[in-house]
Amino acid sequence: MPQPPSENAKEPVDTAFRIPDAGLFVSEYNKKIFSATRLPERVKILDTTLRDGEQTPNVALSTEDKLKIAQALDELGVDIIEAGFAVNSEGEAEAIKVIANAGLKSEICSLCRASIADVDAALACDVDSVHIFLATSKTHLEKKLKITQDQAIEKAVESIQHAKDHGLIVEFSDEDATRTELEFLHRMHKAIQDVGVDRIDIPDTVGVMVPPAMTQFVSEIKKHVKVPLAVHCHDDFGLSVANSLAGVLGGAEEVHVTVNGLGERAGNAALEEVVMSLLAFYNIKTNINSRKMAFVSRLVSQLTGIAVPPNKAIVGENAFSHESGIHVHGVLSDGSTYEPMRPEIVGKERSFVVGKHSGVHAVQNKLREYGIELNPDQMKEVVAKIKKWAESGKKLDDAELLAVAYDVMGEQVQPVIRLEEFTVFTGLNFTPTATVVLNIDGEVRRASETGVGPIDASLSAIRAAVSKNIVLKEYKLEAITGGSNALCNVTVKLGDSEDAQLLALGRSVGSDIVTTSVDAMIEGLNRLWGRKLTLQNGKEKRKAY
Ligand code: KIV
Ligand code: ZN
Repeated sequence: MPQPPSENAKEPVDTAFRIPDAGLFVSEYNKKIFSATRLPERVKILDTTLRDGEQTPNVALSTEDKLKIAQALDELGVDIIEAGFAVNSEGEAEAIKVIANAGLKSEICSLCRASIADVDAALACDVDSVHIFLATSKTHLEKKLKITQDQAIEKAVESIQHAKDHGLIVEFSDEDATRTELEFLHRMHKAIQDVGVDRIDIPDTVGVMVPPAMTQFVSEIKKHVKVPLAVHCHDDFGLSVANSLAGVLGGAEEVHVTVNGLGERAGNAALEEVVMSLLAFYNIKTNINSRKMAFVSRLVSQLTGIAVPPNKAIVGENAFSHESGIHVHGVLSDGSTYEPMRPEIVGKERSFVVGKHSGVHAVQNKLREYGIELNPDQMKEVVAKIKKWAESGKKLDDAELLAVAYDVMGEQVQPVIRLEEFTVFTGLNFTPTATVVLNIDGEVRRASETGVGPIDASLSAIRAAVSKNIVLKEYKLEAITGGSNALCNVTVKLGDSEDAQLLALGRSVGSDIVTTSVDAMIEGLNRLWGRKLTLQNGKEKRKAY
């Protein structure tokens, strides 16, 4: 039985900290940190995707690809681009030089060991700055470098002096700082500040800090330095982003990051996560245009060949996807229920995935995308069928959902468009060209088109024969089996440039990717044709195109 409100009953308090203009909806409790700590208004971002990121196992980028990434980072608003390690190889030096001379706004930097030769190699690449690093921990000094602390200071000072004498901006990193005694770090910092170092970076080289310790460590160092501090955190325990934020709470004014969190071993702090967390939790700004993040993430993933995990924060495919009925219902009423930030502020789009946890809202929403409205009984039947399908472990995507919906609606595909002839020519130094002859409801139409490949040429020829209004919205090719005779699954999503409501999917499975793509296209067109006539109630016209 519902209870009457007690006398003490209060209105619920909204503990969501909202920055609606920024499209962010996080927790009010974070605000306590604001009042307890003096935070910088703005933090600089040093992106090391092209250096630490390229140290990701199995990643090697060409100069051309590095330039593309550097241009994208520049557009994104990165303050400093660590473009590589000049002394590492001729190829690496060439890429740094190309980037340094590309007229970018960002400061272009090369990594250097604490050595004159390394600084000279960087100078030859026309960089604006050098990032000189030298290990400071007992383990590294004794086991790797086999030098004393005094010798380390001498090397650091000498290389920084050389770089400064040649007009470079110098950032210095105490490699493995978080396993180095503070007293030695203070000595090192005093010596390098005396020769004009511009910035000091505190790397958590093997990701061994917890955030509260990082805050304390950085703030202790901060008491002894005048130049700006940076942090460079690795993700060995999955704490790189948390430690980067903690470093900022401790007084760091610059954070080293990589796109998608690429980097040596488990990687570095991810640019997108650091930037959005700084803004959402502490209202600390960066120069990054967050709307370009998803694009840059995709570009880096494509060029490095390192896929972004679907559940990756901010830029993963699932970051703004909703499946469960309860969540879909919530998000459809107000995005802030299950999205702590609006997808568009990071260049993403919200999506609803239909699966075994879906309810009416998710299914209805998805079908509406294709202009399909079902009555309540039909909807119940579709939901029950797709749940059964998903529970059997089979993959459920839009094509399956639509097939179920068409079936429940009793909508048959009429093969109005038939392929009578098809040829495609392709080869090396030859523009792929396709010719099709279609029989469209008794009328024979022929078209030839070229394309960037045989599939592109073939689908363009079919579109040209049917109607210039046909839009290929998506094309998906999946290998079902392995080997060069693998079976493939092609799905095409088609639209109509004159009617945004009109959408249809076509799918085919076969062993030849070109003819399978053609079959999927013909099926999609027949569905589109049927949908168009249904939406027009089939009255006025017999021909859709
Ligand atoms: O992780 C690290 O310590 C580094 C240094 C070169 C700064 O990448
Ligand atoms: Zn590193």
